[in-house]
Amino acid sequence: MRIHEYGDASVIRDEDIPRPVPGPGEVLIQVAATSFNPSDLGLRRGLLRSAFPLDLPCTLGGEVAGTVVEVGGGVHTFAVGDRVIGRTGGAAAEYVTAPADTVVAAPTTIPLAHAAAIPIAGVTAWQAVFEHAGITSGQRVLVNGAGGGVGGFAVQLAKHAGAHVIATASPRSTEVVRRLGADQIIDYTLTPLADALDEPVDAILNLVVASARQAATLMSMVRPGGVVVSVTVPVKAPAGSAVTAVHFVTRNDTDHLAALVTLVDAGVVRVDIAASRPLTDLASVHRDAESGHLRGKTVLVP
Ligand SMILES: NC(=O)c1ccc[n+]([C@@H]2O[C@H](COP(=O)([O-])OP(=O)(O)OC[C@H]3O[C@@H](n4cnc5c(N)ncnc54)[C@H](OP(=O)(O)O)[C@@H]3O)[C@@H](O)[C@H]2O)c1
Repeated sequence: MRIHEYGDASVIRDEDIPRPVPGPGEVLIQVAATSFNPSDLGLRRGLLRSAFPLDLPCTLGGEVAGTVVEVGGGVHTFAVGDRVIGRTGGAAAEYVTAPADTVVAAPTTIPLAHAAAIPIAGVTAWQAVFEHAGITSGQRVLVNGAGGGVGGFAVQLAKHAGAHVIATASPRSTEVVRRLGADQIIDYTLTPLADALDEPVDAILNLVVASARQAATLMSMVRPGGVVVSVTVPVKAPAGSAVTAVHFVTRNDTDHLAALVTLVDAGVVRVDIAASRPLTDLASVHRDAESGHLRGKTVLVP
């Protein structure tokens, strides 16, 4: 599924191109699935072109689960037949190449296609919970935007760290977020966040594109010495505040990805797939996301 120009979802084309050939250090992966992420919309529209310019025409898709079918020179870590997951451009296809050092062995206890949901959302949640917020046992953590792909992992990882998790979700996501382990759920469509908490929390993981006013409200909901970690808009602590504000872009870290795979296979982290759709539905998935009709993780199967 490719684009030749930036634009609305109609620029996405289903095209036949030659099967890619793995270069030195690369593996060729037969794609079991890729997964949709909100950033795919910005990439397609060209909104991210200053930071992440696409080499047009290009194949869409930012993460993959699949089976190695060929290895390039110098690759000793993977062999033909290995099932792998990772972040790589061009995964909205039947085959994609990836540097061997950017993929890890796929989990063995869930369908391979479902594992395509882990690399971006899972690693983002991992870095938010452990690296930037440093969540520890007994803390009170607010996951703002728990109904989304990152949120599902963030709730589970914060629980795994031993936190008491308060989550925001609308009615369509409440049951899922509860099943993933949230201790308390705030329906953000009914209750203003600031009114919903009776005492400050130790950390907020902000996964929502908040306005400047909403971001300032988040700051006021954390105890002195606490932290607000945002994966969306930049956040800023008021002058003299004892709250730490962090905004970050996820790093492709195979140690974090492998650690997630271990937790999935141990039954600690569930990979919640809201929908599995044919890859040829990609334009329709983009439209659904743009109209707010997509929730949780959608995987796309060639
Ligand atoms: N910094 C990075 O490197 C990085 C990496 C990955 C993602 N991101 C960004 O992080 C954000 C979340 O990603 P995602 O994959 O989880 O997106 P997603 O799956 O589309 O989830 C978005 C969810 O946000 C919830 N939501 C919307 N408005 C809300 C509000 N006002 N309050 C609380 N929840 C609200 C909705 O949940 P309900 O179903 O409950 O309504 C929706 O399902 C996106 O903006 C994405 O671009 C950044």
